[in-house]
Amino acid sequence: MLQITKKVSLQKYNTFALPSTAEYFCSVSSQAELSEALAWGKKHKQSIIILGAGSNVLLVGDLAGLVVHISILGIELTSQKEDDLVIKVGAGENWHQLVLKTLEMGWNGLENLSLIPGCVGAAPIQNIGAYGVELSERFDSLEVTHKATGDVRRMDLSDCQFGYRDSFFKQSGQDEYIITAVSFRLSAKPDICIEYPALKQALMKLHTQLQMKHGQSFHEILTPKMISDIVSSIRRSKLPDPAIIPNAGSFFKNPVISLEAETALKKEYPDITSYDLYNGNMKIAAGYLIEKAGWKGFQRNGVGVHDQQALVLVNLGGSGYELLSLASDIQASVLEKFGIALEIEPRVYQ
Ligand code: FAD
Ligand code: EPU
Repeated sequence: MLQITKKVSLQKYNTFALPSTAEYFCSVSSQAELSEALAWGKKHKQSIIILGAGSNVLLVGDLAGLVVHISILGIELTSQKEDDLVIKVGAGENWHQLVLKTLEMGWNGLENLSLIPGCVGAAPIQNIGAYGVELSERFDSLEVTHKATGDVRRMDLSDCQFGYRDSFFKQSGQDEYIITAVSFRLSAKPDICIEYPALKQALMKLHTQLQMKHGQSFHEILTPKMISDIVSSIRRSKLPDPAIIPNAGSFFKNPVISLEAETALKKEYPDITSYDLYNGNMKIAAGYLIEKAGWKGFQRNGVGVHDQQALVLVNLGGSGYELLSLASDIQASVLEKFGIALEIEPRVYQ
């Protein structure tokens, strides 16, 4: 029988460690328990908020209604044809543990997405991405339960409308569906992806350590597990561990501007980092803009900007309100200096 508890602190359920309280809380580990939770919400006229590991939320105040923590587990190989395989994963599985498990099994493709916090069910919400790979590139399909009707359906790549840190679930489908499982297309044959600048730089430094023979390429020597280890070590050197310094990763999205605007910006700031989206638009490193606007390492009222990565806001004992207020001042100053509007990445609940 599903246990629903009143007044539960969410401090350990969000990586900003903000002291928000859920009016009602439950953890569901099966489709049947999820149905029970939805029925309870309907019966008691309580809204439903879904929570995974809380690594991409900003809880400014308390949460009214029933907070449903998804802990549905399971990793299953559902099909294999020669080297191509599909796995189905329960929404409550830990993302990084999944990456490690797939590599152990010789199922390649998720290695660049190592060490991203959170649960598998939340990964499609913002189409997680890192070090040159986005979830959408390894995606097969997912299973959802409609919050209002309880109907279960499968959604494929085109249904999910993935974009950069974006999906159907952040647009017209926001708060309508609960993801219960995600299927991925992986491969028994390694096909490493090492184009991301920071990854390439790290590999150049490792060149001698890797004892490469003359004429040998990285593709011949590197395994997906090695990529996973290298990505993890770059991430550890830049990003604060939420268990030590509470944060939600990048606080803003990298802004997308036209090629003309980027060319003009580059004249004044030749060292700015930008990525070609090959559609006439460029993605600009927001961390650069925030650093150049003078915010890197800044602290006030218990919140601050991380001193190794200006895109990350940190909670040093402040509040959700202070984080939002700092974010708003950063947005205003970047807009004034560069004419670029920064969009907040985590989901804000206030
Ligand atoms: P939560 O924070 O619990 O939820 C986020 C949103 O998704 C909420 O609105 C919630 O309602 C909704 N949601 C969660 N689960 C479900 C579900 N099963 N069904 C429907 N809705 C759901 N992200 C990247 O893309 N790339 C990175 O490199 C990256 N690095 C990070 C580094 C750090 C240190 C941190 C703290 C965060 C980082 N993130 C990164 C952000 C975060 O890890 C991802 O967005 C992750 O997918 C969030 O998972 P979660 O389980 O914590 O989601
Ligand atoms: N930069 C600065 N100053 C800073 C930080 C960054 O100048 O303080 C510039 C540097 O030029 C650097 C460039 O920004 O080369 C890019 O930095 P980094 O490689 O750290 O990546 P990012 O653009 O800041 C994005 C994602 C991260 C993801 C990394 C790696 C977004 C919003 N963020 O950060 O995702 O891990 O790339 O792929 O797209 C997240 O979404 O929470 C997240 C951490």
